[in-house]
Amino acid sequence: MYKSVIAGIGHYVPENIVTNDDLSKLMTTNDEWIIERTGIKERHHRKNRNDSEETTAYLGFRAAENALRNAKLSAKDLDFIIFATLSPDYFFPGCGVLLQEMLGCETIGALDVRNQCSGFVYAMSVANAYIKSGEYKNILVVGAEVHSFGLDFSDAGRGVSVIFGDGAGALILKASDDANINGILATNLHSEGKYAEELCTKFPGSKFGWSDRTLLEPDAVSAEEIYPIMNGNFVFKHAVTRFPETIMEVLDKAGKRVEDLDMFIPHQANLRISQFVQKKLNLPEENIFNNIQKYGNTTAASIPLALSEAIEQGKIKRGDLVCLSAFGSGFTWGSILFEY
Ligand code: UT7
Repeated sequence: MYKSVIAGIGHYVPENIVTNDDLSKLMTTNDEWIIERTGIKERHHRKNRNDSEETTAYLGFRAAENALRNAKLSAKDLDFIIFATLSPDYFFPGCGVLLQEMLGCETIGALDVRNQCSGFVYAMSVANAYIKSGEYKNILVVGAEVHSFGLDFSDAGRGVSVIFGDGAGALILKASDDANINGILATNLHSEGKYAEELCTKFPGSKFGWSDRTLLEPDAVSAEEIYPIMNGNFVFKHAVTRFPETIMEVLDKAGKRVEDLDMFIPHQANLRISQFVQKKLNLPEENIFNNIQKYGNTTAASIPLALSEAIEQGKIKRGDLVCLSAFGSGFTWGSILFEY
C-alpha cells in the first residue's frame, strides 16, 4: 500500500494588514480586548473588500504555486485537487475547478470540502485515503479563505469580525512506497450537526429562502442571516473538550504518546484555546506552533498556513512527528498524525 508524504508546502496572504487599532475605527473595540480574549494583534484583509480579483480561488492559486515550487513539481504533475473553504468565489461551482483552470492543469478532478475550520483536516484525510488506495499520486490540497468581504464591521458583529482574516495554504500529498518513509500514520474525523446553528452563516441556503426574498423583498433578509453568527462561549467550551479528545485518539491509533510529538499545530481559532490544550496535554512551549497573532483565524487556511510557516522557520524537520488538529463549525473536528 502507498504512504502519503508531504512533497511540498506553501502559503499566501494578501499584503494589506489590518491592526486591532484599524478595527477600532470601524466599531467599538480595542487592542487590549482583542489581544486578551484572542491573542490576535493583526490580520490580513484584501485591500478592497469588494475586489473581484483577489478571490478565495486566487489566494489558493498563489499558495498552490508556492507549494509546487517547494515540491519541485509543475501543475501538470498533479492528478487531483481538493479545495477546502467556507468562503468560495461563487455559491456554486466550488473553488477547486477555478483553481484547476488557474493552474492550467489537465482536466483532473477537483473536489471542494465544506467543513469550515476543520476543512483542511478533512481534505487531507480524503487525499490520504485516495493515495493509500493507489487512485492518485500527487494531490494538491488547499485551504483558502476571504473572510473580509462578508463580515459585519458594525458593533453588532464585533464578536465575530475581529477574529477572522484572509489567507491560504497549500500542500502536495505524494504517494510513496519508500520503506524508510512513513508519512501519514493516522487520522480521525468527527461531527455533531445538532450544533450547526451555534456557528454558521444562514444565507443563502435552502432553509432560509433565496430569490423570492432577495428579489421581491430585499429588506426581508436580516444582518443575522447574511453574516456569520457565533455563540462564542459555547463554541469555546466544546473546542477545549474536543481538541484533547481528537489528539489522544489519533495518537492512540498510531501507538504514539504525547511525549513522542515533535510539533502540534492546532487550528488557529483563539490563542487561549491553543494554550488551554497545550496545558492540558502538558506540551512544552517549543512543541506547539501558533501564528494567530499575525493572521487571525483563517478557518480552512489556518492549519496549512501555520504548518507552512513552521517548516519555513525550521521548526519542523524531515522525520519529525507532527499532529494537526481542528475544531469548528458543524460542529466538526479531527486530527492528522504524520511523520514529515
Ligand atoms: O474557528 C472556529 C471556532 N471558533 C472558536 O473557537 C471561537 C471560540 N470563542 C471565542 O474565541 C470567544 O468566545 C470570543 C473571542 C469569540 C469571545 O470571547 P469571550 O471571552 O467569550 O467574550 P464574550 O463573548 O463573553 O463577551 C464579553 C464581553 C461582552 O460584553 P458584556 O456583555 O460583558 O458587557 C461583549 O459584548 O465583551 C464584549 N465584546 C467585545 N468588546 C470589545 C464582544 N466582542 C467585543 C469586541 N471588542 N470585539
